[in-house]
Amino acid sequence: MHSARSLRKMTTSSATFAGRLLMSRSLLVVAVALGALVAACEGCKATKPGKTQDIARSDVATGRLVLLSDLGAALEPCGCVADQRGGLARLGAFTEGVPFPVAVAAAGPTFFDDAVLDGPLAEQRLEKARTVASVLSRGPFVFAPSRSDFAGGSALLSELLSASKARPVSSSVLVNDKPFGEPVLLDVGPTKVAFVGFSGAPKDTLLPEVPGVVFARDGAVLAGEVERVRAQGARFVVLLASGSRGEALRIVDRAPGIDLVLVGTDAVRGEVVREDVPVARIEKTVILEPASRLQSVAVLELFDRGGAFVEGDASGEGSRFQARLELMGPSRAKSAGISSVLTSYDQRVDVQNRVRFANRTPAPAAAGEPHYVGVEVCGNCHSQPLAVWKGHRHSCAYASLTEKHKAFDLDCVGCHVTGYEKPGGSTVTHVDKLENVQCEVCHGPGSKHVEGGGLKSAITRKPEPALCTGCHHEPHVEKTWRVEDAWPKILGKGHGLGPG
Ligand code: HEC
Ligand code: HEC
Ligand code: HEC
Ligand code: HEC
Repeated sequence: MHSARSLRKMTTSSATFAGRLLMSRSLLVVAVALGALVAACEGCKATKPGKTQDIARSDVATGRLVLLSDLGAALEPCGCVADQRGGLARLGAFTEGVPFPVAVAAAGPTFFDDAVLDGPLAEQRLEKARTVASVLSRGPFVFAPSRSDFAGGSALLSELLSASKARPVSSSVLVNDKPFGEPVLLDVGPTKVAFVGFSGAPKDTLLPEVPGVVFARDGAVLAGEVERVRAQGARFVVLLASGSRGEALRIVDRAPGIDLVLVGTDAVRGEVVREDVPVARIEKTVILEPASRLQSVAVLELFDRGGAFVEGDASGEGSRFQARLELMGPSRAKSAGISSVLTSYDQRVDVQNRVRFANRTPAPAAAGEPHYVGVEVCGNCHSQPLAVWKGHRHSCAYASLTEKHKAFDLDCVGCHVTGYEKPGGSTVTHVDKLENVQCEVCHGPGSKHVEGGGLKSAITRKPEPALCTGCHHEPHVEKTWRVEDAWPKILGKGHGLGPG
């Protein structure tokens, strides 16, 4: 993978290239600055040799596309582990402030992290989708909507599109029998770039249908669309595909003239974490599939010198393009403007959820079933396990949220408390005595055990390892996290390691 800097170094050090070529590129930058379309090489030859400074500038791309796959409404990393990648604020800093025109395009779930919008989470998800929309409205944005984007129906998606000024490009998804999107041509610097789209039918057949919405079974219309956009002057054609990689590749096969494909997923249910798929090629078409949730973005740089584009670095002759994946890691700058949009989302959620769920009391335990009693009660008879637990991070899990004003965030609270949304347990607003990851998370609700004076048959001695991974899973732990390694860390003298 090349960073922008190494790319530039590579090109400037290619001293073998003729001055004529360097000159023509430096003039092109001027032409772009004047807003002219494709610079003609004839004109370039007539100019005097450029200065060193001009030569360096000529290696700067004439346009850049930033391509996101499966954003999934991931506003920012959760903060459960250090150095997490991703976040809209990093995307913002990455796209703002570059010295040439940028457009952002996406495939896969964008506005929602779930294909169904219901239950207690619905309103916060909507708030999140609106926040995504407000961030995306900052620049040109095109995308291929996925089934997840229709989670709240087509009218809601249309509302989000007007808020974000996002343009859907898939004509193959029909809403009330009409194409929901159409190919879009954007001027990215001097280059007319066309975006065509495919929004595939979800593979998960258990997903409910969205009223009035029909997804494409195949990409049959795309060959015609690619021809049409080429006829309209498109010099570079991008396919945004919300479907499987296989579906996208079949389209490339049948629709000649696609320069680049961005692959996203057709639908997600919850936090799906997908890693980068290395850049691939099928003949002249480049296939990109950056990691989900903005952990990476794909970047396409165009070096437009007129004529057809060929993949390769800026030092080559003619129009060039180069694609790569860029990690959105912790060393990336963050856009202050977007950070403040996200902070105000957090503040709104904090205030709204306190009110919204004020009366959300836990369902009572079924007759004859135990309810949760809280760690203080357990500690009355189990002083050693209590001492072990107090020395462990499970006992400060709730403080981790309150410190960040996230205790009322439904995306967070469930794993940082005890008996969440369980009968006889807690809810986001009713966590009294059940803050933190307590004994009863692992040993089960203990009221019957306590009433029975320590009744063995009414408590679980050894939790299943799968219980741990119910909370300890990506993106909330490192990829390398293993139950076997973590298990001994929660034990101690008098707590699983024999008497103290
Ligand atoms: C009134 C005292 C008392 C309270 C309160 C109490 N326990 Fe116990 N617990 C006992 C006694 C006594 C035993 C040992 C029973 C035996 O060995 O026969 C026991 C055993 C256990 C065991 C081991 C069971 C086994 O199969 O070996 C676990 C786990 C446990 N308690 C968890 C809890 C949790 C969690 C709480 C709080 C919800 C709790 N206890 C509250 C008295 C208590
Ligand atoms: C209800 C969710 C939940 C369950 C279930 C759970 N944990 Fe945790 N665990 C957490 C949270 C949250 C933290 C971090 C607390 C903090 O620092 O804010 C944590 C922290 C830890 C840590 C310290 C950090 C680390 O990874 O070294 C260990 C070890 C750990 N858990 C092991 C386990 C094991 C083993 C199990 C299963 C027996 C388990 N946990 C079950 C939520 C859970
Ligand atoms: C699926 C369960 C889950 C959810 C949801 C979750 N967390 Fe966590 N959180 C964990 C676990 C597990 C850990 C411990 C990670 C570790 O150290 O291995 C943790 C640790 C933390 C820590 C301690 C980090 C440290 O290094 O001390 C913070 C802070 C935190 N989470 C905040 C949040 C916030 C904010 C959210 C919501 C945006 C959230 N969590 C959502 C499971 C979860
Ligand atoms: C993250 C999960 C977890 C939490 C939280 C937890 N335990 Fe345990 N507990 C275990 C495991 C695992 C064992 C070991 C079981 C085994 O190997 O048989 C254990 C064992 C025990 C035992 C059996 C005694 C022994 O020495 O083997 C008791 C009693 C107990 N825990 C009580 C508690 C109490 C009380 C708390 C809260 C103060 C608590 N536990 C918190 C997971 C947990």
